[in-house]
Amino acid sequence: MLTSMYGRHCLTLQDFSAEEIGAILDMATKLKARQKKGEAHPSLAGKTLAMIFQKPSTRTRVSFEVGMWQLGGSALFLSSQELQMGRGEPIKDTAAVLSRYVDGIMIRTFDHGEVEELAAFASVPVINGLTDLLHPCQVLADLLTVEEKIGHLKGVKLAYLGDGNNVAHSLMIGCSKMGLDVSIAAPQNYRPSPEIEEKARSNALVSGSRIVVTSDPLEAVEKAEVIYTDVWASMGQEEEKQARREVFGPYQVNSRLVEAAAPGAVIMHCLPAYRGEEITAEVLESKSSIVLDQAENRLHAQKGLMALLMGK
Ligand code: CP
Ligand code: NVA
Repeated sequence: MLTSMYGRHCLTLQDFSAEEIGAILDMATKLKARQKKGEAHPSLAGKTLAMIFQKPSTRTRVSFEVGMWQLGGSALFLSSQELQMGRGEPIKDTAAVLSRYVDGIMIRTFDHGEVEELAAFASVPVINGLTDLLHPCQVLADLLTVEEKIGHLKGVKLAYLGDGNNVAHSLMIGCSKMGLDVSIAAPQNYRPSPEIEEKARSNALVSGSRIVVTSDPLEAVEKAEVIYTDVWASMGQEEEKQARREVFGPYQVNSRLVEAAAPGAVIMHCLPAYRGEEITAEVLESKSSIVLDQAENRLHAQKGLMALLMGK
């Protein structure tokens, strides 16, 4: 029997079992169906989510805020620059004080350690809305999207091309937990972190998935049913943009690479996308692209997550 997830943090999908991730996706599917039918589903009535942002956001901010409203609660947008935290108030004091007012805290920041510290001192669930290391909520939405489009998760081959960044890391963790095969193709100096790779490989021993990290984009896309990419320069790496453009060219998701994948392969991107860099406009806007369904599923996946962590 699955035990309640009430009160848990979500800093990384590594902390959740395959069964728990499955329960979050099932809750997301259920809530999505109710929302589509126009049925109210206020399981978080009267509850509030504080959302701390130290980096920009379109999808994360809007989907969490709308998600809380749809669940009957409310959300507060807090720019870290406007909080006392931005003037040096310790994270642990911020965590303890916010916990007296709100029922959950979502944070997007640079250093993953800050999110861990916030969680250590908060008495309400802390949800990672992206750090330099991980982006777990994105991958919950991605798994929901693959499940909807392909019909199952186990044994699906996903190829990720580009930077071994936060999104790649969470994909490796989430997919290896749920039994998807993942091939990451990244330039030699931009491979995923060895610690994350090790975690994914140990998850794969349990789930039966296959993890490949290569520098060869054609090897990665062979037989892939999902092709995924993300920006070459993440938030905070703007100064490296030009240098990265010179290295990442062969990893661009274009029609030549899509043709080398399984017939009917779908295209995913967490967005925002830079057309002509990591992906061509032609592929991003093609019939195979499911990026808008993926973006919409941020809302449903996070509602599933919040309903389970913040509602009894
Ligand atoms: N994919 C994603 O997290 O988008 P935002 O940066 O717009 O939140
Ligand atoms: N890797 C990107 C993801 C944006 C949603 C970044 O961190 O900027």
